[in-house]
Amino acid sequence: MSFVPKEIETYCIDHSTQPSQIAKELMDFTKSSVHGSNMLIGEMEGSILKFLIKLGKVKSIVELGTYTGYSALIMAEALPEDGKLISIDLNPETTKIAKSFWERSSHGKKIEHILKPGLEALSTLNDKYDLIFIDADKNNYSNYLNWAIQHLSVNGLIISDNTLWYGKVLTPGLDKQTDSIRAHNDLAKNLEGFTKTLLPIRDGMFLITRS
Ligand SMILES: C[S@@+](CC[C@H](N)C(=O)[O-])C[C@H]1O[C@@H](n2cnc3c(N)ncnc32)[C@H](O)[C@@H]1O
Repeated sequence: MSFVPKEIETYCIDHSTQPSQIAKELMDFTKSSVHGSNMLIGEMEGSILKFLIKLGKVKSIVELGTYTGYSALIMAEALPEDGKLISIDLNPETTKIAKSFWERSSHGKKIEHILKPGLEALSTLNDKYDLIFIDADKNNYSNYLNWAIQHLSVNGLIISDNTLWYGKVLTPGLDKQTDSIRAHNDLAKNLEGFTKTLLPIRDGMFLITRS
């Protein structure tokens, strides 16, 4: 889902730093051969994530929602050599695809994968992280955000994806997932001591950092 007209998004992507060859191959493979490729963050969001990682001098990332590994690879490419990304997903098939592409990239060594449900995986992580990217399991978005607030480094950034949910967030009571994302968005809005911006990029990117 994108709220920006297709031609405008294509122009923006064309004038932004291009994804690596391996990332392009991974996206093409996912679109042609894997069920659910609409779940990919896409090139526009990928270039924004890279930009924010560079800007914020991010060194550590936790990602919820690996899928075929595109967003993890894109983000790992923007990390410094000693940077670290932990990506979490419960699907072994798509994780296998992700690993097969990460292994072909010199940035793959920065990525660690946890094959577990999100909340279970997070319960094993006790450090603070510079970027926490929430892109899995819409029903737990508020739980993930609460975890992220507790595990965010001083200058860290939380990004929650799909927070406009095809525009459905405008309508309360539509379904469980929509209400869950609405609850996450209200929780984010009311956080004290944080600066937030909900961007109408792709399906909605909610950016949250300390004030
Ligand atoms: C939107 S996709 C992630 C897309 C990925 N970030 C990208 O752009 O390349 C969401 C992923 O969340 C995973 N997922 C769903 N429920 C989950 C849960 N409870 N715990 C962990 N992962 C889950 C799915 O298996 C799916 O791969």
